[in-house]
Amino acid sequence: MARRPMVAGNWKMYKTAGEGAILVQNLEEHVRDLWEDVEVVVCPPFTALKSVSTVIELDRLQIGLGAQDMHWEPEGAYTGAIAARMLVDLRCDYVIVGHSERREYFGETDATVNKKVHAVFEAGMVPIVCVGESLAVREADETEAFVRSQVRAALEGLTAEQGARVVIAYEPVWAIGTGRTPTPEGANDVARSIRATVGAMFGQPAAMQVRVLYGGSVKPENASTFFVEPDIDGALVGGAALKADSFAEIAEAAR
Ligand code: 13P
Repeated sequence: MARRPMVAGNWKMYKTAGEGAILVQNLEEHVRDLWEDVEVVVCPPFTALKSVSTVIELDRLQIGLGAQDMHWEPEGAYTGAIAARMLVDLRCDYVIVGHSERREYFGETDATVNKKVHAVFEAGMVPIVCVGESLAVREADETEAFVRSQVRAALEGLTAEQGARVVIAYEPVWAIGTGRTPTPEGANDVARSIRATVGAMFGQPAAMQVRVLYGGSVKPENASTFFVEPDIDGALVGGAALKADSFAEIAEAAR
């Protein structure tokens, strides 16, 4: 695979600062030899970013760091929100944008996702943009059209260079935390359609470069079935990312 696979762990609302530091230390022992082949990224909650970042720096761990969300404004009176430069200051490389839980519980829309995507790039980081259909959309047989429209809205106004560097995570909402998954072939069909959308927006070189991850109930037992698919370049992992050994097994499967 010409594209470097990425396995990113979305810790969601789990782990204190101390627990996060221990988890990332344990993880390193497992993934130390993977870095050449697989980009391993952890996305702790805001309150654990500093401790995890410090461990990564002091121990020179080859693990990337991401945040789970941020505001699109550079600063301002937005109580409770976090700005891009605060994340850059903690050496974040990535920011997850538009996770379905943000869309469902925190009023995230395609429009706010697009603003955040631009803000992440402007700050010198890379967005991991989440898209994916609900069960109702799937049952109406509208998955690909729905996901394509989410991708178009999220990436609107980017340059071709940014369109090539963005990471897109295809996460069917009904597969998140449920133990249910699409078939690997079905997930690959949607990933291919995402890649084609990037191609239509930014040209074929961007389509060939953009990394498309699968997310939703990825476990050590099923990870490789997704990774062998040609348009799937890795995974965004929730529950299985909270333990060093299971996350490391998934990262190993991506090699
Ligand atoms: P699970 O791996 O727990 O299903 O979560 C997936 C996810 O939402 C990652 O962002």
